[in-house]
Amino acid sequence: MKDSTLEQLCSLYTELTEEDIRILKNTASTLQMYADLSDAYMFIDCKMKDSENAIVVAEAFPKSVESVYENSVVGKIVFDTFEPGVFYSYRQGKKSVIRQAVTQEGRSVEQSVVPIKNDLHQVIGVLIQEKEVDYPAANQNNQQKDSLGQGSIDYVMGDNSNDMPMVSDLLMEIFLLTDNENKLIYANPVGVKFITEMSRTEEIQNRNLVELLPFLNPVYNQQDDVFVFELTVDHKNLVVKKVRLRKKDKMRGTLLIIQDLTELRTKEKELMMKSVVIQEIHHRVKNNLQTVASLLRLQMRRGFPEESRSYFEDTLNRIFSISSVYELILANEDAEDDDVNIVELTRKVCSTMVVNELHKKVNLIISSNGNRILTSSRKAVSIALIVNELVQNSLKHAFPEDVQGEIVVDFLSNKDFLELHIFDNGVGMREPKTSLGLEIVHNLVVNDLNGEFSYLPENIGTHAVITFPVSPEVIIYYEKENTDS
Ligand SMILES: Nc1ncnc2c1ncn2[C@@H]1O[C@H](COP(=O)(O)OP(=O)(O)OP(=O)(O)O)[C@@H](O)[C@H]1O
Ligand SMILES: [Mg+2]
Repeated sequence: MKDSTLEQLCSLYTELTEEDIRILKNTASTLQMYADLSDAYMFIDCKMKDSENAIVVAEAFPKSVESVYENSVVGKIVFDTFEPGVFYSYRQGKKSVIRQAVTQEGRSVEQSVVPIKNDLHQVIGVLIQEKEVDYPAANQNNQQKDSLGQGSIDYVMGDNSNDMPMVSDLLMEIFLLTDNENKLIYANPVGVKFITEMSRTEEIQNRNLVELLPFLNPVYNQQDDVFVFELTVDHKNLVVKKVRLRKKDKMRGTLLIIQDLTELRTKEKELMMKSVVIQEIHHRVKNNLQTVASLLRLQMRRGFPEESRSYFEDTLNRIFSISSVYELILANEDAEDDDVNIVELTRKVCSTMVVNELHKKVNLIISSNGNRILTSSRKAVSIALIVNELVQNSLKHAFPEDVQGEIVVDFLSNKDFLELHIFDNGVGMREPKTSLGLEIVHNLVVNDLNGEFSYLPENIGTHAVITFPVSPEVIIYYEKENTDS
């Protein structure tokens, strides 16, 4: 074992610091001595970054014993399911001893594991000692020793004499056993169901499993004797554990244990999206916005120069627009995520608007051809602010006289783009002189919605149009009937 390998593996695959690696190098330098002293195999494993697995970074084999490890295992991945002792020591920071551990290489050993800690008492690796175990039966002859493993497999799978399979029938995991030509020789009941469903054929006995289920190709091609794969097939999330069964150096077959985690993953996702924490955050955002609004109102009641009234109102309206988004998310409890129906949002923004000139007889029409348009909450905040600014503009500037007016907010969509039209039949824009309101609209459209904002020429009134692309964050559900409000 060279120090440089340890260093390379640690810096490539772990999050250990230089100081941690130095400590591990020190420990590694004594491994050979302890291996010889105790006639045991010594290893150092370290937890990998971004993964639940560990990696072997150092090893020493006793000189006196003929090695059971044919090749070096440095750089091999160690899986939680196969080496629980290693992970116990990692998590608990304590020593673990397993009297009859079966290593990833399929050897029976007594395995002792102690954590290696740094000065901060963090576990930076584990030191493993493995001694080969002599079973009484194994002493008789080698043949017996090899069939010991087979005995346990028979117990799980049912042996050749047509015994009822004992354990595997009761398991939810899929158990598949193939011979050295990858032909299926055993499948437990859930296994049979799985293969017939996935391969759409009933004829599975003695068929080549890779031909039946081509997605298992990488599993069989992978050279390690023991490996865990995560596969996604037909929207199914599968964890495939592969164990190669060997007799001496001859391959006897492969055991696959497959877990279908689809339901679990979907539940996890749902939980993530609808989690209490997210709901709580929405609540807090909404409450904070309402507090800000109340403070402003309080200030307004205390009195202010009349010329600042419109600034207060504009600010209040902007705050209300944002908090409308959170109110809608919170009202829609059974939604799968925090998507917001922006037609509903537009109605809410318009109905909560603070309007000073109450005397105005203005009709507001909101229409979306009956289509339901959902966007992420982030985009919904932008849309709420845009609608607020443009409808405010129409209310404030389009109808200076006491006339009957109309403001229309219309959502038009095709499969690639969504258009938001806001027009009024007022006096029209005289000299376009952008103030804060239109600057806000322009910035949000360009930077947040990746869209375009323009005014269309009209004989009467003003017609603003915003176009932005349909994306995973902007989803349209088309309805047959057209309903306007
Ligand atoms: N619908 C409209 N009808 C007539 N004039 C409009 C309309 N919308 C905008 N304008 C004109 O464009 C100008 C710029 O609008 P903008 O929203 O940027 O500023 P504002 O409404 O005056 O102030 P604020 O920054 O508070 O929104 C307005 O002052 C107004 O003269
Ligand atoms: Mg304005």
